Formats: sequence, C-alpha cells, structure tokens
Amino acid sequence: MSPHSQIEVFPDKADLIYRAVEVVLTEAHKALSHRDRFTIALAGGSTPEPLYQALAKQELPWDKVHVFWGDERYVPATDPQSNEGMARRAWLNHVPIPASNIHSIPTSAADPSEAAQQHEQELQSFFGTPSGEFPALDLILLGIGDDGHTASLFPGTPALDVTDRLVTVGSKDGQPRITFTHPLINQARLVLFLVTGASKLPALKAILSSKEDARQYPARLIQPTGSLVWLLDEAAGSGLNLG
Ligand code: 6PG
Repeated sequence: MSPHSQIEVFPDKADLIYRAVEVVLTEAHKALSHRDRFTIALAGGSTPEPLYQALAKQELPWDKVHVFWGDERYVPATDPQSNEGMARRAWLNHVPIPASNIHSIPTSAADPSEAAQQHEQELQSFFGTPSGEFPALDLILLGIGDDGHTASLFPGTPALDVTDRLVTVGSKDGQPRITFTHPLINQARLVLFLVTGASKLPALKAILSSKEDARQYPARLIQPTGSLVWLLDEAAGSGLNLG
C-alpha cells in the first residue's frame, strides 16, 4: 500500500456512504480553497449510486465543481448501462451544476479509440496540460469488480499497458469501454475506493497483497502519489487481516 493510504471498514453501507460524503466534501473544500474549483471523476457500477444520491443533498458552489468519469461503457447516456446516466439521475439532475461543468466521455464515434482521443484532448485543454503530462484531478472515485478490475482496466487487457495516454479503450468481454489510464488515475490528489459485498473479498485480498500480479488484479496498478482511501463494508473487509 502507498504510504498515504488508509483502509476503513464499516458495519453497513449507510455508514460507509456517510463517511464517503465526508471524504468528498473535505476534498472539495480543500480544492476550492486552493484552486477555486473541485475536479472529481466518478465511478460507475452500482456501489456509488447512494453516494451520488447523498451528494445531491449537499451544499456546494456547483459552478466551481467539475465532474468527469473514470470510465464509461460505450453506450449513449440514455442507455441503462451508462455510468453518466446513473450519475445524472442520482445526483447531477438535482443540483444547479452548469452543463459545461459535466465533462461526459464521448461514446458516439464509430471508432472508440477516436472517442478516447477526443476525451483526452478535452482533459488536456481543461487542465492546460501538454501532451505527455498527466493532470491531477482532485478526487477520483473507483470501485472494483469481483475479478479485480477497476475503472475499465480489466485483467489481461491491452489497456493495462497504456502508460503514455490519459484515456484509452478498455474491453469487457469484447465490449468496448473508455477508461482513464492507470497513470492518469495515479496522478489524482486523492483516490477513493468504495467496495461493498462479500463477493469482492477474494479480489480485495489479492489487490491488497504485495504478491499478486497486477495484470491479473488491475486495481493493484492504482498506487497514487497522493492519498489512497479504501472504504469497505464488513462483508468486503472483515476477512482482511488489517493488523
Ligand atoms: C463500471 C465501473 C466499474 C465498477 C466495478 C464495480 O463501469 O462498471 O466503473 O469499474 O466500479 O465494476 O461495480 P459495482 O459497484 O456495480 O460492483
């Protein structure tokens, strides 16, 4: 584990979500006081939905909050599978965040690699980083799959080897996804993993052990220079010897 990492285990998901809100708000206020803006990349899947619903009830200077996604399925935002669609329904549709502050991952180009390039260009122009440099987002939210993937960095896929781009094409069972690369994720000031459910425990043990291969458990690639926080429920975290 990186030196600035911490693992917190909660009796149930409600406590975990309460703590996650606290972490997000703390980072937001830190970013706003230092840079007068807060940049956050969201995770997809189902785990973060209650967090997004809770954030919809918070008071923030929404015109200074910029939302990105760490990955996206290659479907329109209206598709039930869309990570953007879920976050809009749970959170973004309920707060006065300017449309231009929501930095969707494009998913309409015929060639997903073109979409990845478009999004990389949007990130570079937003953060003002020249090509070859990785911008630092304030907070990147992540989950893990039972197979140890994170974002859309799936075991044994070419996306794991991309270290010279900000955004690349991931693949899940042959279906294209657009994903932040692990060097971009590792540039974040804080990476926050939310992991719940017993099904995640075997992968979590492998991810947190120093012996396992990162190609088999890609979440092991996430070793940010900034802070790393794991929020786990009992089901996912109780079997870990955190002594
Ligand atoms: C996605 C996510 C993915 C997710 C994990 C966990 O697009 O599916 O970004 O990386 O975080 O698969 O998903 P659950 O929260 O649904 O278990």
